[in-house]
Amino acid sequence: PAQDEGLPRRCEEGRGKKKEASAMRVLSVTPEFFPLVKTGGLADVAGALPLALAPLGVNARTLLPAYPAVRAALPDATPVAGLDELYGGPVRLLQAATDEGAELLLLDAPHLYDRPGNIYLAPTGSDWPDNHRRFAALCRVAQLIGSGLLPDWQPDLVHGHDWQAGLAAAYLALAGGPRPATVLTVHNLAFQGWVPAASFVELGLPATAFAIEGVEYYGGAGMLKAGLYFADRLSTVSPTYAREIQTPEHGMGLDGLMRARAGDLVGITNGIDTEVWDPARDPHLAAPYSAADPAPKAASKAALQARLGLEQRPQTCMFCIVSRFTQQKGIDLVLEALPTLLGYDTQLAVLGSGEPVLEQGWAAAAAAHPGRIGYVSGYDEPLSHLMQGGADAILVPSRFEPCGLTQLIGLRYGTLPVVARVGGLADTVIDANEAALADEVATGIQFAPVTALALIEAVHRTMALFANPDAWAATVRRAMTRDVGWTRAAQHYLALYRDALRRVPG
Ligand code: ADP
Ligand code: GLC
Repeated sequence: PAQDEGLPRRCEEGRGKKKEASAMRVLSVTPEFFPLVKTGGLADVAGALPLALAPLGVNARTLLPAYPAVRAALPDATPVAGLDELYGGPVRLLQAATDEGAELLLLDAPHLYDRPGNIYLAPTGSDWPDNHRRFAALCRVAQLIGSGLLPDWQPDLVHGHDWQAGLAAAYLALAGGPRPATVLTVHNLAFQGWVPAASFVELGLPATAFAIEGVEYYGGAGMLKAGLYFADRLSTVSPTYAREIQTPEHGMGLDGLMRARAGDLVGITNGIDTEVWDPARDPHLAAPYSAADPAPKAASKAALQARLGLEQRPQTCMFCIVSRFTQQKGIDLVLEALPTLLGYDTQLAVLGSGEPVLEQGWAAAAAAHPGRIGYVSGYDEPLSHLMQGGADAILVPSRFEPCGLTQLIGLRYGTLPVVARVGGLADTVIDANEAALADEVATGIQFAPVTALALIEAVHRTMALFANPDAWAATVRRAMTRDVGWTRAAQHYLALYRDALRRVPG
């Protein structure tokens, strides 16, 4: 179909501009939303996509829980609907808009969301035991909005993100009658929202849904599986990951279903918000720089070295890591490779938190090698900007990576990505092999398999490139001028939405 089929007659440019009455209405359902609440890249995507879709004529509203941080950021949110009882207490739906122009619907349910700290984890570090109810409630409200809860705004399509939104498609499909179309985007197949059979009844689905052709999954119920089974269309966040999840190696037990639905599944590579991530206008950097004038990047390198207590060595190749510390991210491989990497003229700047053994490993490495390794534990948005602004290269040695955003930020900041050849990392970085260098298309370094040895070889190749200032500068310039924004992805989502709308019964 023609790309502009069904486009409204007039598209207004700009972030969050008001849309026409005839615009396609999309309810985005997400547990995270940047800049209000974030544990990972899902928040960035859920925050940026509606703004990128607005100029294409999509009138999006985003439904998310009114966690304490969200309430605090949006004190003027106004009630637009309420229910007397949902999973143990009354709930209200609040309406608000962000400074950037995103329109939000906040599910205010203190008995479910009014909890301190990480949105998923109890203070013990374990998942909240009622997470299935917390996100079933979100999905139930998505269904109600889809069925006309708000008199002045009913979506044509409900777009869910990850397992937390998976049940929305199931509730809508099983309710019968006319309904909005549904799309589910998988950001990470590793998180599946699985509950034992005994908890199935709490999800409020008909008993018949507890079947292989439904939500049943390994003897329990899968909230992600529900969405994968019932949504009209599926997407994930890169073409390579879309293929990988159809294989037993990366399918996390769901590869059979992914293969069965391959015709309904697309991979759409994420962008980054190029206004939030812009080295020419980033207040967290020591000096602005750009592809046309990359030299001031050196000032942020010096600032980062000072901040982390590293030696002031402008000529040393500095690698950074900005990551959640989980098995997925392969951070342990860098620790394993460390003795060799320290044999090269390198510095390492590391920001991240997660698995205690990895935090301890980096704390010990930094203590043993002050001046060479700097480690900051925790989640620190401003420091993540300075890391990307100051380092020469960013390591992303993930065992699997649906898309990955830090390598895209690295490209934009001229911080060359050194990445495992998996998922979205494979799709977004062009390896600086001989042919790519000769053809002047390289933007970083890829390695495979995902082992410490291959990582060492990749760092070695990076050092060789770094030792050739002209080739390095040309690669940096190319990386910085790659299109990593949302425009292209937004067009693909629009096409996906149209495709889903053609499929919906009634
Ligand atoms: P994932 O969502 O799997 O964690 P992504 O690369 O898609 O991986 O997104 C991670 C996002 O979180 C990026 O915006 C990255 O900059 C940010 N991030 C990760 N760890 C930290 C941290 N410790 N401090 C600040 N930002 C972080
Ligand atoms: C997930 C994935 C990551 C992806 C992000 C946003 O957290 O782990 O690869 O970039 O979602 O889609």
